[in-house]
Amino acid sequence: MTEIITVNAEQPETDKLQAAADIIRAGGLVAFPTETVYGLGADATDADAAKKIYAAKGRPSDNPLIIHVAAPSDAELYAHTCELYYRLAKAFMPGPITVILPKKNTVPHSVTGGLDTVAVRCPSHPVASALISAAGVAIAAPSANLSGSPSPTKAEHVISDLSGRVDMIIDGGECEIGLESTIVKIDGDSLTLLRPGAVTYDALLCVCESVNIAPAVTEQLGENERPLSPGMKYRHYAPKAPLILLDGAASEVVAYMRKAQDSQNCAIICYDEDASELISDKLITIGARDDLEAQANALFGALREVNGFDAEVIYAHLPPKEGIGLALYNRMIRAAAHTIKKV
Ligand code: TXA
Ligand code: MG
Repeated sequence: MTEIITVNAEQPETDKLQAAADIIRAGGLVAFPTETVYGLGADATDADAAKKIYAAKGRPSDNPLIIHVAAPSDAELYAHTCELYYRLAKAFMPGPITVILPKKNTVPHSVTGGLDTVAVRCPSHPVASALISAAGVAIAAPSANLSGSPSPTKAEHVISDLSGRVDMIIDGGECEIGLESTIVKIDGDSLTLLRPGAVTYDALLCVCESVNIAPAVTEQLGENERPLSPGMKYRHYAPKAPLILLDGAASEVVAYMRKAQDSQNCAIICYDEDASELISDKLITIGARDDLEAQANALFGALREVNGFDAEVIYAHLPPKEGIGLALYNRMIRAAAHTIKKV
């Protein structure tokens, strides 16, 4: 049985979060909203609770979890921090960034997928923050979706994936950002960007002179290559029908989409401006062409919605790689299994 509760997203009710925190402390699973996507939380120091997360999601157990703390300095309990960690914390926490650090023994290997490092994040969402404080322990939480499907940005996504598989789902409305956090690994004085998010590459450069982008962020890895972040090797976000990303001038891309509508059973994910030039059947708009934030917010919902169309193929624009566009690009090429068509 899954209990579903609704809380005030700005000022969550203390008694409701206390009940959720009790479940976490007792080794149970609670899905909760964050500013990025919904997370599926458990006590990060409880090896068995972590195993329940993997089982509920159907997630491979070598794909490590992020642990969520109430304040940046709480990382000390679970990881070996450094000066660069605190520079990142000062600039971006609480907020949509995750930092990979050497782990301490307080975090079981079942949480880190056997790795000696741990991913630490301090979320800014009032519900997430209050829940972690009430639990009094770090909360290990992957995105609250079934493994392989898009991360949930609304409680209804979580309910459709995990109802009956977890103890509680906290409905705190829509997530503000809609894409998962930026993940960076600290290597001495430099950073490696493992997963792009709302904290952009340019923003990271303001805090650290040397930021490398891991190859798996934009490229398909060879069969025997190992990604720096285990999660990058898994098929992700994929809709039921193949997704093809169209690369070319905006007008050419829209013309291609319009032609495809005449000859194929296709669904289209496009910009708001394109809608008037396309047939409205099996069409999803994800925001204005220049509004990358709006597109980031709408993408995962669109990738879920498109499954309802029963199309044989899906077309969408290839996003630009600037700003939060790099995060959109990263999620979309993976949803498309790297299928890009030049038009
Ligand atoms: O915004 C987010 O980060 C959301 C919310 C719930 O906080 N969480 C999230 O978790 O996206 P998840 O499990 O879906 O993605 C975590 C990613 C995975 O790709 C995993 O491989 C990587 O982080 N990761 C976790 N620990 C790691 C480690 N020690 N080293 C390298 N990568 C790690
Ligand atoms: Mg995930």
